[in-house]
Amino acid sequence: MPDELSLAGLLANLPPDQLADVIGSLTPTQQLSALYDWSLWRRPKQTTPEGQWRIWLILAGRGFGKTRTGAEFIREQVDSGNAKHIALVGATAADVRDTMVEGESGLLAIYPPDQRPRYEPSKRRITFHNGATASAYSADEPDRLRGPNHDLAWADELAAWRYPDAWDQLMLGLRIGDHPRAVVTTTPRPTPIIQRLMKATDRSVAITRGSTYENSANLANDFLNEMKRRYEGTRLGRQELHAEILEDVEGALWQRDNIDLNRVTGAPPLKRIVVAIDPAVTNNEDSNETGIVIAGICQNNQGWLLDDRTLRGSPSEWAHAAISAYNTFKADSLVAEANQGGDMIRHLLRTVDAHAPIKLVHASRGKRTRAEPVAALYEQNRIHHVGSFPVLEDQLCSWIPDISSSPDRLDALVWAFTDLMVDGARRAPVVAPISLTQTSHWRVS
Ligand SMILES: Nc1ncnc2c1ncn2[C@@H]1O[C@H](COP(=O)(O)OP(=O)(O)OP(=O)(O)O)[C@@H](O)[C@H]1O
Ligand SMILES: [Mg+2]
Repeated sequence: MPDELSLAGLLANLPPDQLADVIGSLTPTQQLSALYDWSLWRRPKQTTPEGQWRIWLILAGRGFGKTRTGAEFIREQVDSGNAKHIALVGATAADVRDTMVEGESGLLAIYPPDQRPRYEPSKRRITFHNGATASAYSADEPDRLRGPNHDLAWADELAAWRYPDAWDQLMLGLRIGDHPRAVVTTTPRPTPIIQRLMKATDRSVAITRGSTYENSANLANDFLNEMKRRYEGTRLGRQELHAEILEDVEGALWQRDNIDLNRVTGAPPLKRIVVAIDPAVTNNEDSNETGIVIAGICQNNQGWLLDDRTLRGSPSEWAHAAISAYNTFKADSLVAEANQGGDMIRHLLRTVDAHAPIKLVHASRGKRTRAEPVAALYEQNRIHHVGSFPVLEDQLCSWIPDISSSPDRLDALVWAFTDLMVDGARRAPVVAPISLTQTSHWRVS
C-alpha cells in the first residue's frame, strides 16, 4: 500500500476521468487525504500563479470555481506559514458567512475534518489549526476596515461591492508580513476598480480569466441548465458565463461613466423619499423579479438612489419587503405600477400596513417615453447613486429602448424618479445644483 506522499504523486499523474475510479479503490484514510488534497483537483487556472504579484485577480463566470480557488489559496498560505492575519471581505456580512466561510466551497468545507478551522461568528473570526486568524468584513461597512492591518486578503465578488471605499481601505491595511497579497474572486463588471486593476502594467496584478463551462464536470446539472437557459446567447451571458467585461452599449440610455461620476457615499437630508415597486406578474422560477427601488430628492432638487431591494418572490414577500423599506427609510409614499391589477396591489400592501400612503401609477406612455426624462436627469448630473448597485446598473447601461423589454429594477427606478423629479418638477421649481465637491462626494481615480 503506498504511503501518503507517494499516493499523492501517483494520483497527481492520473487523468481526471480516471482519478475518481482509482480513489474509489483506496482505503477510507487514503480516500480522505486524497479528497482534501487540492493539488489533485485544481485546474491549472486555479493554481497560484508564479511571480511577485500583489493581487491575483480572478475574473470568471458563474460557477467557475472562483470561491473555491480563493478559499484554497488562503489555505495554502496559512498552511505554509506565510499568512497569520487575514482579511476576508464579501459584499455583505451574510455573503462572507454563508459563502466564504460556511459555503460549500468555503474555508470550513475545504479543510480536512481534523484541521477544520474554528469559527466564532459573534467575533467574526476564524482561527486556523496553526493559530493563524482571519477576520470577516462586509464591504457594506468600509469603516470597519479602517485600522486593522493584514498580511493576506481575500475579496469575493469585488465587482458587486456597494462601497468601493472598502477596497481602498483593505489595500491600505494590507501591509504586514514579508509579502502581503490579496486574491480577488469575482464575476466581472466594468467598475472603476476592476478596470483599474486590469490596466495595471507593473506586474503587480496577476489576472486569470475563465468561463463557467471550464468547471462543468463539478457543477450540478440543474445549475448548469439554469445558467444556460437564463444567459446563453444573451449579452449578459457574455459577462455572467464567459466573464467578458461589457463596455457601454450603443443606444443605451444610461452610461457607466455618468453613474460613476455622480456616485456618492452618503445623501444629504431629503425632503421626499419614495419606495417604487414594479410588481412581477407571476410567481414561479421563471417569473420576473419585483423591482423595489428606494429614492429621494433633496432641497436642491437633486435625486438620490438609496437602495435596491428587488427580489423574486411571492406577492406577500414583495409586499413585506416594500413596507419594510418604507419604514426603514421613513419614506413618504409607495409608488406602484398598477397595470397588472391595481386593486390587488393596493390590497396586498394594505394587508401589511393599513396606513402607508400608496400611489398607483399606470404605464400609459411607452417605456422609452417614460425612461428618457429620467435618463436626461442623469445626463444633467442631477442623480446620484449612494454606493454601487451592480445588477441595477447593469440593467440601466445595457437596456436599449424599443429593442428589448425593460428590466424590472430599471422600471422601478424610472417610476421612483418620475414621481420625485419629473412629475414632481411640475410642482416644485428646480434651483441650481449644489456643489458636490463640498459634500461627501468621491470619485474613484
Ligand atoms: N477543480 C475542482 N475540482 C472539484 N470541484 C471543484 C473544482 N473547482 C470548483 N469545484 C466545485 O465546484 C462548485 C462551484 O465552485 P464555486 O462555488 O467555487 O464557484 P464560483 O465560481 O464561486 O460560483 P458562483 O459564481 O456561484 O459564486 C463547488 O462545489 C466547488 O467546490
Ligand atoms: Mg462564488
